[in-house]
Formats: sequence, structure tokens, C-alpha cells
Amino acid sequence: MSDDDLLRALVREHGTPLYLLDLDMALERAARLDAFDTVRYAQKAHPGLALLRALAAAGHSVDATSGFEILRARAAGFPAERIELATDVLDRATLEVAVREGVRANLGSADLIEAYAASGAHPECTLRINPGFGSGHSRRVTTGGPHSKHGIWHEEFPAALERAERAGLRVSGLHVHIGSGVELEGLSQTIAAMEQALRHAPDSVVRISAGGGLAVPYDGGPEFPVERYAAAWLEARARWQVELGRSLHLEVEPGRYLVAPAGRMVSEVRACKETPEWSWVLVDAGFHTLARPLLYGSYHRMSLVGAESRPLRPTVVAGPLCESGDVLTQSPSGEPRPVELPEARPGDLLVIHDTGAYGISMASNYNGFPLPAEVVLEGGQPRLARRRQSFDDLLALEQDL
Ligand code: LLP
Repeated sequence: MSDDDLLRALVREHGTPLYLLDLDMALERAARLDAFDTVRYAQKAHPGLALLRALAAAGHSVDATSGFEILRARAAGFPAERIELATDVLDRATLEVAVREGVRANLGSADLIEAYAASGAHPECTLRINPGFGSGHSRRVTTGGPHSKHGIWHEEFPAALERAERAGLRVSGLHVHIGSGVELEGLSQTIAAMEQALRHAPDSVVRISAGGGLAVPYDGGPEFPVERYAAAWLEARARWQVELGRSLHLEVEPGRYLVAPAGRMVSEVRACKETPEWSWVLVDAGFHTLARPLLYGSYHRMSLVGAESRPLRPTVVAGPLCESGDVLTQSPSGEPRPVELPEARPGDLLVIHDTGAYGISMASNYNGFPLPAEVVLEGGQPRLARRRQSFDDLLALEQDL
């Protein structure tokens, strides 16, 4: 069956908007990082159980941001020792789950140290350092530097270590994550920041994490050079063994790198219209199904199923929400940013590419729409991994109040 025929068949069965995720591709991309001792998948990118199960079965580890992500990872089969909670705020419910499940935490604020140590949680922790600089595809996802809430400011790090010691908490890991969509430039600066932290760190530190954020070429450009990235960290680790006498376990914590290109979303064209400046194509997916264009002005490649021979035209693609920002092709400042698409007609299927990361995981029920369904592909075989929300699901939380 051709890819177009598969998409049409899946849409006949499950409707639109419909997410698709290729599990084999996600696993293959995780395997590209096997020079690291641990690949810790950042499940915020896509927390689907089918994906988490596959990653757990392949022996990978997982990052959780909340108690609920810990429980999700446990439900998917990750043992507690392969889960790490990374947070700058330990809300009470999350702390309770971390304690109950025996999951170690990566603490990004020094004020969490005493509460964590006193809670009966895991006896070890990781400390996350804000190295004083950051990077990323948008300032909204830059997680280092003076304007970021994340991590322990590098100058405060020695004081945080003292607090941990006083609290009887063993610091066994150090972590840096400077942002999302990070390229190789700046890597040596990040490695230098880790080295600086290691020079202050007690002997109890046996693990370091390079963080995640590995960029994905949403414009179809060259892939992130994972070999060079891994080689730089491995070289530094070998040097620290000699110069600092430390044997360190090396982790990487990618989200989008594993899943962004493995996901697509299929929507249906429902209306086409013109304004003096733009040709609009209105589809049944919007920022309730894919928030990235609205939040960051992110670009996603798009294609129209079976329309390759039609003439191309600059097109602004928008969704059904009652909000003028509901445009799937927009610049970071919110201007419509047309893309070249074959002439569209109502009933056409529009595919939005590279939506595996922060697509369905950031979807909402705005304007009353249900969360979309998702099909996973494994060995080329499609399987419904998540059904579309029903009207009853939508009312369930408010019934009988
Ligand atoms: N580790 C930590 C501590 C993180 O905060 C994140 C992402 C990651 C790893 C994974 O980053 P990735 O490899 O996926 O870039 N919604 C935004 C991205 C937010 C990222 C939040 N933290 C987007 O759609 O681009």
C-alpha cells in the first residue's frame, strides 16, 4: 500500500485530526545515541504509553517532570531506577509519588534540597546547574542564563553542595540542559561549564548528564551531527578521568531528537478563502492540536495528499478555533507566514510533518474540541494507540458536581 493510501485508509477508520507516530523510527533514533551510557528520554516531548513501553523494553531510561509522569513511566514498564524526576519545583503531589515510587530527583532549585532530604525520598540526588548561558530555537525554550528559571545558578552551586551535605543528601549526579533545539556551537562552552562544576563537586558525584535539546531540522536540512556531539562529551569524560581522577557515567536526555521526525498529523481541508493579501486554507487542526506555531512561530513542513501535480501557491494554513492566532503557518511575532502548497480544495488531506515532539503532548480542549486520536506504526503495521476523546470524556470531570 502506498503511503497516501495508508493515510486515506487510516483517516477513513479514525477520522481527522489524526496523529501518527512511527515507533521504529523513534527506537532507531535512540540507538544512534548509544555511545552514551544512558539515553534518558524526556517524555514531555511525547508521553504516549506505546512509545514509552517500546523505549522501556529497549533498555532506555526516562525523565519525568511530575509525579504523574513518574506514574506513567511506571505504567509503561520502566523500573524506578531507570526513572529520574527533573524539576525546579517539587509540588506536594509530585514529592509524594517520588517518595512512594523510590525515584531519584534532579533538583533545579537549591530550596528543594531540605524538603527532598527530609521526605524519605531516594537517598541520592542530581543537581541541575544553570551555567550562566543558554540556547534554543526560541527564547521561550532557552533554559540557561540569567533570564531562565531553570537550574541552580553556577555561582550558587558550591553553596547548594554544602546545603546537600548538611541535609545528609548524597549528590551523585550533575546535570546541564541549556535549552531546546540546540546546535553544536556552544557545546564546548557547556562542556567547560560541566568541568567547572566537577571541580567543586564531592567524590560522591559519579554521573553527569549532557541534557537534551538536540536540534531537529524542521526545514528538511541536514540532521544534527550526533556522532560529533557524542564524541565531544566522550573526549571530555576521558580527559576528566585523567585530570580529575573521576570515573563518570555519561547520560544524554533527548526528547524531540527521538520523536519529532517520527510523527505526523493528518488534518482535512474544510474551507479555502482569499483576503487581499493571503490565500487561506482552513483545516480541522489548530493550536488545540499543534501549539508550536502559535507559541514559538515554529515552522512545520506540510503536504497535501495526492495533490503533487497541482500548481503551487503561497498559502496560509489556519485552524477552526475562534482566535485569530490560530494559524499554523506564522512567524514568531504572529504574522501569517505563507508556505508553498499545491492548490487545495475542501476534502483534501493536509499532512503536517515532524509533529512527534510537543505535538499531542501540548494539545488542549480549547473551544470544546476533543484531544485527537493517535495511531502508532510498528513494523509498518498501524495500531490505534490512543482513541479520540469522546463527549462523555469531556464532561466526565464536571458530572455530578
Ligand atoms: N531535559 C530537560 C531538563 C528539559 O527541560 C527538556 C525540555 C529536555 C530534556 C528535552 O528537550 P528536547 O530534547 O525535547 O529539546 N515545547 C517546546 C519544547 C519545550 C522543552 C522543555 N524541556 C517545543 O515545542 O519546542
